[in-house]
Amino acid sequence: MHRALIASPTAQRNLVLFLLLAVAMACWALILGQGGGGPGVDMAMASPTMGLPATAFLTMWVTMMVAMMFPTAAPMILTFHRIESAKRARGEAFVSTWLFAAGYTLIWAAAGVAAYYGAVTAEAVATCTGLSAAMAARIGGALVIAAGLYQLTPLKNVCLSKCRSPIGFILTSWRGGSLGALRMGLLHGGSCFGCCWLLMVVLFPLGIMNLAAMALITLIIFAEKSLAWKRVTAYGTAAALVIYGLVVVAAPRALPTFAAPGPATAMPGMAKPEIVEPPVPAAMPMGMSGGAPRRGAVVLSGAFVVAIDGPAASGKGTLARRLAKRFGLAHLDTGALYRATALLVLDSGGDAADPAAAEAAARRVGAQLLADPRLRDEAVTRASSVVAAIPAVRRALLEFQRGFAARPPAAARGAVLDGRDIGSVVCPQADIKLFVTAATEVRARRRLDELRARGTPAIYEEVLQELRERDTRDAGREVAPMTAAPGAVVIDTTALDADMALARASDIVARALAGSR
Ligand code: CDP
Repeated sequence: MHRALIASPTAQRNLVLFLLLAVAMACWALILGQGGGGPGVDMAMASPTMGLPATAFLTMWVTMMVAMMFPTAAPMILTFHRIESAKRARGEAFVSTWLFAAGYTLIWAAAGVAAYYGAVTAEAVATCTGLSAAMAARIGGALVIAAGLYQLTPLKNVCLSKCRSPIGFILTSWRGGSLGALRMGLLHGGSCFGCCWLLMVVLFPLGIMNLAAMALITLIIFAEKSLAWKRVTAYGTAAALVIYGLVVVAAPRALPTFAAPGPATAMPGMAKPEIVEPPVPAAMPMGMSGGAPRRGAVVLSGAFVVAIDGPAASGKGTLARRLAKRFGLAHLDTGALYRATALLVLDSGGDAADPAAAEAAARRVGAQLLADPRLRDEAVTRASSVVAAIPAVRRALLEFQRGFAARPPAAARGAVLDGRDIGSVVCPQADIKLFVTAATEVRARRRLDELRARGTPAIYEEVLQELRERDTRDAGREVAPMTAAPGAVVIDTTALDADMALARASDIVARALAGSR
């Protein structure tokens, strides 16, 4: 019964179709589950590379391409399968359909490599030229217009004709054997790429993991390949893209990645910014002390900067990440820079206390390293505060941090930086300065829970001891010691959970933003 089912051409065809769609659905599910940004630099979808290292970006890209392209490539893959299974039925040599699919996927993987390096270059150019959020969004709008106009070009038409006619493709491009199948997959992938590459490029300004944009583009591709009136679909898509692109050029806020706070500009998948204007309390709430936030003191190329300092495990990292997400700001965990420096020194067998080795390592720190899970290793943690006490290391990392604050990646209108000296040294002109702290024992307990949650065996007394040593080194060093900067609002989280700390900090940020508008 089972054999009969598999031997039947219809059953086989259905099985291949089912598998293709199942793989595509699994990829959609994976993307849905991914939702957030990468560790270290949390720029959410507004950042073209999402702050991911090349391999992680490529994995995400291929997942996206399989999710979007497999359903539309199904007719071609099934046609290939029909021919090969007929050969199999006749007892002739045949080739696995998956080789054809692999060739097809390889083309999109290669496109992903180009997309990654294109995105890295775009980010670098934006940073060097100090591109404003509005201008970045307008360039995004221009790309959308270009994608619209491309729909009407002869090249698009030629590629689409090949994609629309699986039989025609088989007749003109058939190659036998395994290599031939791979080559045909590559060829067909090339035609699809010729059809859709600009629609994929448009995903960058729309938000690289923006599910609504991905779904819409998938529908467009499906329609142009399958609907009877090819030209009508082409003209319809072109008109819609050109009109939307023009709207973005005129009003950059119409772009989802234009990360200015306000419900209308919230990015899909991102918590809606809460820009409320609560009455200014007569006294600072419990758990806070220090001066009121400076309102509207826009510095550093007009970017809105929130500086968060504090000792280890005080909750400043979580707070910084959540604040950035809530208000559509870019986030830089500056501790990751010192950790990355320490990791490079340890990896090369060097001594973290050696100024020359540590400075050389600091100069080699790149975005890729910031996502390395080894940054949280205990040895790296300990060494990070050793390299951080070396003045040349701090100098080497200073420009990157200031550049990030002055020109946050992609379209973000501001940035949240967390560390030890952000309010005092890196961004003394920050719009808001927070100093997040908590009792040492409470911090040690939190770090212990964190370590255990990651599966690292840890003993409370040792964690407490390590925190104390690090606090002493961080606060006692000569250059840029950890300190609450003048005017910083102190948030003591000893008795506050993450939500309560976020509510307090959000209140301060919302008031400052309201004042700066
Ligand atoms: O996550 P945790 O608070 O334990 O540490 P981190 O923020 O990742 O920082 C690791 C180490 O980098 C700290 O112990 C500091 O010595 C150093 N650091 C610094 O000196 N200045 C900064 N702005 C950030 C971190």
